[in-house]
Amino acid sequence: MKINELDIPEQIKRIIVQHGYNQLYPPQEEAITAGVLNRKNLVLASPTASGKTLIAELCILKNILENDTKSIYLTPLRALANEKYEEFKKYRELTKSNGDKLEISVSTGDYDSTDEWLGKYDIIISTNEKADSLLRHKAPWMQQIDTIVADEIHLLTDQGRGPTLEVTLTKLMKLNPNAQFLLLSATVKNADEISKWIKGIPITTDWRPVPLREGVFYDGEIQFKDGSARRILTETKKPVIDIALDILKQGGQVLIFTQTRRDAVSYGKNISKVLSRKISKSLEKDLKTIADKILTSGERTGLSEILAEQVKFGAAFHHAGLDASHRRLIEESFKDGKIKILSATPTLAAGVNLPARAVLISNFRRYDPESWSEEISVLEYKQLAGRAGRPQYDKAGESILIAKTSVEQERLMEKYVCSEPEKIWSKLSIENVLRPHVLSTIATGFAYTEEDLYDFFSQTFHAQQHDLKMLKSKVGKILRFLFNEEMITMESRKLLATPFGHRVSELYIDPVSAVIIRDGLYNRPDKLTEVSILQLVSHTPDLSPKLYPRGKESEQLIAYASEHSNELIFKQPDPWNSMYSYEQNLDDFISEIKCVAVMNDWIQEITENDLLGKYKVEPGDLLRLTQTAEWLIFASNQLARLFQHKDLMIKFPILRRRIQYGIKEELIELVGLQGIGRIRARMLHNAGFHKIADIRKANLQSLVSVPTIGSTLAKNIKKQIEDKNPAK
Ligand SMILES: Nc1ncnc2c1ncn2[C@@H]1O[C@H](COP(=O)(O)OP(=O)(O)OP(=O)(O)O)[C@@H](O)[C@H]1O
Ligand SMILES: [Mg+2]
Repeated sequence: MKINELDIPEQIKRIIVQHGYNQLYPPQEEAITAGVLNRKNLVLASPTASGKTLIAELCILKNILENDTKSIYLTPLRALANEKYEEFKKYRELTKSNGDKLEISVSTGDYDSTDEWLGKYDIIISTNEKADSLLRHKAPWMQQIDTIVADEIHLLTDQGRGPTLEVTLTKLMKLNPNAQFLLLSATVKNADEISKWIKGIPITTDWRPVPLREGVFYDGEIQFKDGSARRILTETKKPVIDIALDILKQGGQVLIFTQTRRDAVSYGKNISKVLSRKISKSLEKDLKTIADKILTSGERTGLSEILAEQVKFGAAFHHAGLDASHRRLIEESFKDGKIKILSATPTLAAGVNLPARAVLISNFRRYDPESWSEEISVLEYKQLAGRAGRPQYDKAGESILIAKTSVEQERLMEKYVCSEPEKIWSKLSIENVLRPHVLSTIATGFAYTEEDLYDFFSQTFHAQQHDLKMLKSKVGKILRFLFNEEMITMESRKLLATPFGHRVSELYIDPVSAVIIRDGLYNRPDKLTEVSILQLVSHTPDLSPKLYPRGKESEQLIAYASEHSNELIFKQPDPWNSMYSYEQNLDDFISEIKCVAVMNDWIQEITENDLLGKYKVEPGDLLRLTQTAEWLIFASNQLARLFQHKDLMIKFPILRRRIQYGIKEELIELVGLQGIGRIRARMLHNAGFHKIADIRKANLQSLVSVPTIGSTLAKNIKKQIEDKNPAK
């Protein structure tokens, strides 16, 4: 089927053909035949790179141009939302029936906002969580949405984030019952079940633009599913590295998936050593440029130095501990073909589109604090394996598991290679994740009575798969909790959110966190300091990532806690007591204190590198930690306002800025300037520029003489100050 034969406005066809698409891929053809262009709802389960996005694009654009409506495109990650935005930009050339050009926006930020400005856009690309928060704020334009695309919907089965996607889709179905729903994923076995939920058609294909050969390595040889085998030369002691070198020799790039960050770094290191003897002079020059970029962008840390060292020879690692700018640089350099072998944790597979000729799965076991070690699911394996094969570059992709014995080789072949992914199961009945959704469903008026509430939940995917009784009993329990904590009122079966309940729902925090914060604000310690507030937010279940002590660190953290004991809101639990009660146990307390200690050092301007050395906290984790803490301090401030703790409403905003930038209070004014972060602000301060007024008085030359401030930045700073306060 050709693009030009489709029943869509001509201007859409023109752009698509201009961008080099002429013929539809087979899964796309199937979707069209099934009636997707006639507003049929669809679950499209089709492999990686089989062109699912184009189907979504065609429906979105047709619906907008023909019916003057809006569309929303949901993705699980900000990085994916931004990637889609880049891909969709080309459609801004399209003209709507009113003569205006089509407008596209991406919205992933601030959760406490209606973002009314989004109302003027035709296509809104958003993360699932952001869409959920917009629904909680009753963004008025959400009712005009007529096409809803949910990408990567296998996330429904994720314990932590699946329920948000499920509830968001259920709410959108209730809000816009006639909207068209398109659900996309590469690894969905039960598309039929999901399609029943959205009253749509399931399409399942195994078509891939680049064929995938899956195999298992053992004893010098890869056995492939099709019966063929390939010997691998033993060059090093590690099979993964030998296979990677074999692929490289044939001109392909390799992605190695590891389960831990430490493995990702160490594979990178070993590979770079081997590659140092193998790369060409011209590539070496390019790689040196990338390595220099890593060292000069962001704060220089031990981790960035290790990365730069590996990149020099065409190897690299990629994990969530890396600074975001470094991660992006590695992704781009791999796409450009400069980095040849990349070892990464599975976060990479969930993120941006980054295929390689071969995917090597170095370990199929994952460390899990509860069960010690568990094998990854088939679904996870298929997500990783699916990354193999770069369209336009590779004739076939290869994904290879590594076995230690021949028995294991056979087992892995059966368990992973020859199996289908597990079914997608709703995780909505997990109480912790259900709790905020029960509150938000009431607070946003999706349910006014208990019956309404059960009716709402009867329309979820969970109800499609399970007896409603199970969910009902959980919801009942949560209702009692919300009622006892005064987030809702229940009068003659009528449910209403209290102002507290409303604010908690909008602030996008767990009701349990809200209770901790509310009670903490009343139970002040003798001396209320930054440590107290940092402990308050670290005590909530919303703070992430949790930091765990290493080695002897526990003792040091306990000492730290007793040093600050008169500042603590939550005291150290008695180990004997906590064995028997449901109170916080000592381990949780220690990891909470670790978060406090790290953040307290951060706002004392300890360098990222020293934090890394002292606590083994990597830059990416530090960033996420400070971002969630900042959000929770904001939420605490909102609750302080609600409960009229006026004194705290001064303290919280100051601490929020300090956490955001990692600075002492005296730098707050300076970091308000664009281009000035914690390091430059400190340099300015040390040079005697304490306030904006000091900079206003200074001449350009004296600014340039401050280390880390170049002449372009100095001019820019001067301009910002003039623009804010133009000379009369
Ligand atoms: N009909 C087509 N002709 C040529 N190229 C196409 C066609 N359809 C899609 N593509 C290209 O195929 C690539 C993969 O498409 P897409 O991103 O939609 O994959 P996907 O099915 O969403 O995979 P994933 O599961 O990895 O998200 C894109 O680069 C896209 O431009
Ligand atoms: Mg996709």
